[in-house]
Amino acid sequence: MNSPPPASNTPYGTLPTTSNPTARKPVSLPRLLDMRARGEKIAMLTAYDATFAAVADAAGVDCVLVGDSLGMVCQGLSTTVGVTLETMRYHVESVARGARRVQATVWIVGDLPFGSYHESKEQALRSAVVLMEAGAHMVKLEGGGWTTETVHFLVERGIPVCAHLGLTPQTVHALGGYRVQGKTIESAALLKKQAHELQDAGASMLVLEMVPAALSAEVTNELLHCPTIGIGAGKDTAGQVLVLHDMLGMNLGKMPKFVRNFMADAPGIKEAMQAYVAAVKDGSFPDNAQHAW
Ligand code: KIV
Repeated sequence: MNSPPPASNTPYGTLPTTSNPTARKPVSLPRLLDMRARGEKIAMLTAYDATFAAVADAAGVDCVLVGDSLGMVCQGLSTTVGVTLETMRYHVESVARGARRVQATVWIVGDLPFGSYHESKEQALRSAVVLMEAGAHMVKLEGGGWTTETVHFLVERGIPVCAHLGLTPQTVHALGGYRVQGKTIESAALLKKQAHELQDAGASMLVLEMVPAALSAEVTNELLHCPTIGIGAGKDTAGQVLVLHDMLGMNLGKMPKFVRNFMADAPGIKEAMQAYVAAVKDGSFPDNAQHAW
């Protein structure tokens, strides 16, 4: 196995090493659950390649999501629907290599793309194994109800699972666009029911995308064993996630209103990520103005 380069040799400044008592410990599932229990916010960012993963790790990001949003920000697709498992494998492997090169503390979540877990739980297992073998620590899949059995099947086989409710981009055509979800009494009740089912099935993380802040706060308070990670879901989730390109102000289209450009006041990318981590941890991101729904 390649050992990481000495701290002084990294392009990311002086970093803690194993011989340095201030070294960050690798983020693990028990640690994420402990953060949830202690009320320490979890800072997650997407990353798709080795360099950004290494910088995120050095900046103190807790979790890197190799999201299928890469289809839009890296491949120029108009939705995430066309992203393949092979593409996800390639990017997860790149991210895992990058994270290993520096500190290897960051928790890596690999997104299962559209069509890679829909046929059967056995197909989901085969797809999850591809991403875990590429270096993911956890896989993410979208939707509730029909996914519950799949989540249970994967968790029983030792694969940590992050679920994803609210706006689920892989079903954008069925949803009729990138709209806020859970606004009616019925849809909010369904989302809460599905969130509980996913926790009971063993999901150990839940992304809540574009749901009203009050609803995500309720879900967060009720799910004691499954930290919620919000994106456009208010400030009261157990953690936050943003798409890397958005928080660096590199969105080519319309910037979602829940995004903050952390590059605006930062001298560099690592500093922008550090500012994001600090703002998530101290609760100053997101603020109420960024979540009017
Ligand atoms: O693919 C992705 O980046 C995601 C986040 C937006 C949560 O699913």
